[in-house]
Amino acid sequence: MPHVVIHNSVSADGGVGGFDIDIGLHYEIAAMFGADVHLVGSETMLAAGMDPDDAADGALGPPVDAPDDRRPLLAVVDSRGRVRTWAALRQAPHWRDRMVALCSRATPADYLDHLATWHVDHIVAGDQRVDLAGGLAELERVYDAKRVLIDSGGTLNGVLLRAGLVDEVSLLVHPQLVDGPGRVSMFRTAETGDPVALRLVDAEPQRGGIVWLRYDVVEAAGKAGGG
Ligand SMILES: NC(=O)c1ccc[n+]([C@@H]2O[C@H](COP(=O)([O-])OP(=O)(O)OC[C@H]3O[C@@H](n4cnc5c(N)ncnc54)[C@H](OP(=O)(O)O)[C@@H]3O)[C@@H](O)[C@H]2O)c1
Repeated sequence: MPHVVIHNSVSADGGVGGFDIDIGLHYEIAAMFGADVHLVGSETMLAAGMDPDDAADGALGPPVDAPDDRRPLLAVVDSRGRVRTWAALRQAPHWRDRMVALCSRATPADYLDHLATWHVDHIVAGDQRVDLAGGLAELERVYDAKRVLIDSGGTLNGVLLRAGLVDEVSLLVHPQLVDGPGRVSMFRTAETGDPVALRLVDAEPQRGGIVWLRYDVVEAAGKAGGG
C-alpha cells in the first residue's frame, strides 16, 4: 500500500476555506513530499472552475509518458463521473500528461467513454462509491505509486482517515480565524467518531506567520502492518 499524506492549508481553527491561502507556499511544501500521485476529490476539482472539455479547442492525443518526467500523476476520485475538465487538466503544468480517474461499478458508462475520448485512464474499485483502499492498491500496482499526496477537502480526508489509510497529516496553519455556517473543517465525516490520534513530527514557522505542522497518524489501521 502506498504511503499516504494529507496536505492542507488551514485557518487557525482548522477550516479549509474562507481565508487567504498562500497558494504558492501550499504547492512549494506539497512538492517537498515528492509524491508519485496527487489524489484529489471531485468537489475540489469542480471548485477549481476549470474550462469544460466540450469547450476545448480540439482533441488531445494519447498521453506522452516521458521517462524523465518527475511530476506527479493526477488521480481524481469520481464515482459519479462529474469531472469533465480533463483537457484543461492535461494542459496544466503541474502533473504528468497521463491522468487517471478512480471510478466505481456505478459510474455511468458514458463517463468511461468520455475519459477514453480524452485519453484519461480509469480504475474501477468499489460498487457505489470508490473503494479507496482498493483504488490506492491499484495505483501502486499499475502506476508504481509509492507516495500519494491527498490535496483535497475535508470529505475525502474524512473517508481516508476513518478507513485508516492515512500515514501523515501536513497542515499549513494560516494566522486567520473563520466563522459562519460556511466554515468547513479539514476533517468532515457524516458521524462523529473517536478522535484520530496524531504524533507531532515537526513544527516549522514559514513566511507570513504561517506554521507548517507535520504529524504522523498514530494508527493507520486500514493498512497492512500499520503503513
Ligand atoms: N485548503 C486546502 O488545502 C484545500 C485543498 C483542497 C481543496 N480545498 C477545498 O475543499 C473544498 C472541497 O472539499 P469537499 O470536502 O467538499 O470535497 P472533496 O473532498 O474534494 O470531494 C469529496 C470526495 O470524497 C469522495 N467521497 C465521499 N464519500 C465517499 C465514500 N464514502 N467513499 C469514497 N469516496 C467518497 C467523493 O467521491 P465521489 O465523487 O465519487 O462522490 C469526492 O471525490 C473546495 O472548496 C476546495 O477548494 C481546500
